[in-house]
Amino acid sequence: KIMAGEELVSPWHWWRSLGSPRYVSAPMVNNSELAFRLLVRRHGVQLTYTPMIPAKKFISMGAKDRLALIEPHEDDRPLIVQFCSDEPDELLEAGRLARDHCDAIDLNLGCPQSQAARDHYGAVLMEEPELVSRMVRRASQGLRVPVTCKIRVFDNLERTVAFAKMLQASGCSMLTVHGRTRGCTHHEGSCNWDYIREVKEAVDIPVIANGGMIRSLRDVRRCLEHTGADAVMSAIGLLLDPRLFGGQESGQSSDPPDPQPLPDPIELALEYLELAKTIPSTPGKSMREHVQALLRFELCPSYYHRGGKTDRHKDLWNLVCCNRVTTAHQCIQIVEVLAWREKHRLAPYEPPPTLKQIKYAPRIGASTAGPQVQAAASEASDSARRSLDSEDEGSWELAASIFDNLE
Ligand SMILES: Cc1cc2nc3c(=O)[nH]c(=O)nc-3n(C[C@H](O)[C@H](O)[C@H](O)COP(=O)(O)O)c2cc1C
Repeated sequence: KIMAGEELVSPWHWWRSLGSPRYVSAPMVNNSELAFRLLVRRHGVQLTYTPMIPAKKFISMGAKDRLALIEPHEDDRPLIVQFCSDEPDELLEAGRLARDHCDAIDLNLGCPQSQAARDHYGAVLMEEPELVSRMVRRASQGLRVPVTCKIRVFDNLERTVAFAKMLQASGCSMLTVHGRTRGCTHHEGSCNWDYIREVKEAVDIPVIANGGMIRSLRDVRRCLEHTGADAVMSAIGLLLDPRLFGGQESGQSSDPPDPQPLPDPIELALEYLELAKTIPSTPGKSMREHVQALLRFELCPSYYHRGGKTDRHKDLWNLVCCNRVTTAHQCIQIVEVLAWREKHRLAPYEPPPTLKQIKYAPRIGASTAGPQVQAAASEASDSARRSLDSEDEGSWELAASIFDNLE
């Protein structure tokens, strides 16, 4: 039983009070910041998570810095704040400081990275069920918002189910099961939907299924049918296509995975960046990473094998990977350069006219560029061609010259 105001409510009652969400955006360090959460909500997501926040760090911060990590927003509810911790009182205290800004507190028991194991948080804690039980019990008894957990599966089904039941008995109100084991780092490796189904059947709290190359609405439906879960959570699928949950069923199979280019990635990137522009707390790194993911086919078809020889617009790719690019405005300008090149069919590596010239030229979408701009473009591309003896150096040189023009 959990408390809501003065009432005792069951996990199911709470879940229904959230509108029984089915489409969930995952907690993602550097990537589930408010701007991205608002973007995916526009396209079908019904429940969002903050990136994982270390509870110890959160407690030690001032109130303003704490809010900057959660980025609460009236249009971003229901929202779950995720913490990592290995200490019951610490989790409780972090939960107290966050509870007024969210609908639940989540404990990360799924992070498989070596740093997590070293620092004793995430998936390594699944080896210590008694400690986890104490943490969940303490937090769920002491907080007026529900406590939820995100776990991985064990190799062994009985162990997985026993762990899930232990969480429920300790006061966990909802469980996300990532169907990969702790050994699968980097979010890859086979995902066991059968184990998720077994967990769902064994517990009586809402279960969210996660993992398994979900790249289309068809995959979402398959996952819900296979696991019987109450909802599906996506991380990489949403990074690659923020409209994953809002789109039409394509009928395509994503088995084997064959990610398709988005129909209008530039518009989508600009939609995200316009949102980010209105939210000053959006980290530059998050913006660059979203632009990299959304424009991967335009900027770098060898996205999955960085450094490949076939990269187009490598100068722009270099820019969106460069930590000197820090503002939404700069990112928008880079995307506009790309849009210009695509529109005017400039060959890869050919620089566009300066941003100022682009700004005063007919907008993207207009059919022809003015003669002055065309002249500037051809002049610029001649000089670029001369400097392109070495592909990499040339692309960096172009990146630098574009950077110098960013406002
Ligand atoms: C960039 C990135 C950051 C992530 N950060 C977190 C995190 O902060 N907390 C967490 O529980 N999982 C995190 N994950 C794991 C995802 O939430 C998810 O469990 C995993 O990617 C599998 O889902 P997917 O197959 O839909 O990508 C992260 C994944 C990615 C790709």
